[in-house]
Amino acid sequence: MLNDIEEVLVTREELQQLAKRVGKQISEDYRGKDLVLVGVLKGGFVYLADLMREITIPVDMDFISVSSYGASTSSSGVVRIIKDIDIDITGKHVLIVEDLVDTGLTLRHLKELLSTRNPASVKLCTALDKPSRRKVDIEVDYEAIVIPDKFVVGYGLDYAGLYRNLPDVCTLSPRVYANKG
Ligand code: PRP
Repeated sequence: MLNDIEEVLVTREELQQLAKRVGKQISEDYRGKDLVLVGVLKGGFVYLADLMREITIPVDMDFISVSSYGASTSSSGVVRIIKDIDIDITGKHVLIVEDLVDTGLTLRHLKELLSTRNPASVKLCTALDKPSRRKVDIEVDYEAIVIPDKFVVGYGLDYAGLYRNLPDVCTLSPRVYANKG
């Protein structure tokens, strides 16, 4: 697997430092409030796990599972809910946690969906941001690491289901795509 990496774009140390800064900020912003983190599966679980351990206030959590890309490397724009959250978010402050905001379609859809359930607020938090790919006007509320418009894997992000377990955010050798046809 390590032979398939072309370049490390964001190191595990940078990601850890990001989680620390954002976790501290969230702890300040939501002090005394009912906070629920909603991790977006599959990719969002890695950042969620790092981030929540940097949060020092009481926090509930849940997951939502969506699919937009399938096995391809570009967004189809179609967001499908595969698994919804289980908990009632009425009157609660919701923070959606993602690995990456790309076109923004997934987060816009999720924000709209969860906002219909009478939460106190819905905000967005992602580890990585590809602003050059944005198709919809959407505001991410917490600091994210800006990356160029390259297909990346690792830290939760996959190619054809693999490479999510790489601790750094990397590009893959063109050989990998060639082999998969
Ligand atoms: C990726 C990523 C975000 C979404 C961002 O997920 O985890 O959910 O794409 O793209 P957008 O801003 O263009 O909507 P993917 O669809 O690859 O699903 P996965 O996390 O299950 O791999």
